[in-house]
Amino acid sequence: MDRNLALNLVRVTEAAALESARHLGRGDKNLADGAAVNGMRKMFDTLTIDGVVVIGEGEMDEAPMLYIGEQIGKATPGSVKVDIAVDPLDGTTAVAQGKANAISVVAVAPRGCLLHAPDMYMNKIAVGPKVKGKVHLDMPIEEIIRNTAEALNKSVSDITVTMLDRPRHEKLMEEVRKAGARIKLFKDGDVAAAIATCFENSGVDILMGIGGAPEGVLAAAAIKCLGGDFQGRLHPSSEEEVVRCKNMGIDCVDKIFTLDDLVKGNEVMFAATGVTDGELLKGVVYYENNRAKTYSVVMRAETGTVRFIESIHRLDKKPEYAK
Ligand code: FBP
Repeated sequence: MDRNLALNLVRVTEAAALESARHLGRGDKNLADGAAVNGMRKMFDTLTIDGVVVIGEGEMDEAPMLYIGEQIGKATPGSVKVDIAVDPLDGTTAVAQGKANAISVVAVAPRGCLLHAPDMYMNKIAVGPKVKGKVHLDMPIEEIIRNTAEALNKSVSDITVTMLDRPRHEKLMEEVRKAGARIKLFKDGDVAAAIATCFENSGVDILMGIGGAPEGVLAAAAIKCLGGDFQGRLHPSSEEEVVRCKNMGIDCVDKIFTLDDLVKGNEVMFAATGVTDGELLKGVVYYENNRAKTYSVVMRAETGTVRFIESIHRLDKKPEYAK
């Protein structure tokens, strides 16, 4: 895939962030999400790719844009065929409530390389490069934490496990405490939290717990670029969801999806832009004279290059962002 596509992906997530950040704290998550979808979709139209959405806003009948199976990009005869995974706004509630950790994300890989994950929960573990190969989703929690501490040359009491602040994680929290590690909870946005485990100065070492499966594929795409590890097992919450897995060709619902199952090969690209402030990225800031600043990260697994991009946007020169 053309390496410059990665830089164009930043334009896509910037567009989504710029549009959705307008709705910060206004109490309407659907409006914030719709704006992100709109911004992202418009920018995708400018790319010369032959893309198909594999992780998106839902099935065709439930989402008007960026639905699963939607063809994306201005395909020309030589255009590269790609799978596209998007979450125009990971953290819809966070934006609506004016809270932290919302980002806009996209991953692109050659056709057939991204898992078509059903829209349901997934039990996840994410760690950084030094811990890759040392932990497994089914290991006892105490062993996961001990192995992580050893790999990072830290004491167990300095290991920080991060997870979504949800009642379903009470038992997990209990086990982490018993093992002697620290816990950092967050309200929303487990894509950013999973990625944070790959950055030493993020202060978090392991992400554990149950979040969205589509978000799992997006996090796995970033973690593949960063050299860390991610494993996930689908967590259907009804018989209907088990049937949905089977209909999507996932016969063994108990299967642990490894990083390579979620994202095949080494050609994936990932981009994200902050919508509200988080550990990984700052949110959109509005300046005088109708300008705005965005903070993004873009990476490619093939080279492992990670770019943090700060952009100043002259919104007066971009009529699409007019208030
Ligand atoms: P949305 O933006 O779709 O609301 O997702 C936010 C999020 O926090 C994800 O990052 C996470 O995977 C999922 O919600 C967890 O689901 P739930 O809020 O049902 O616990």
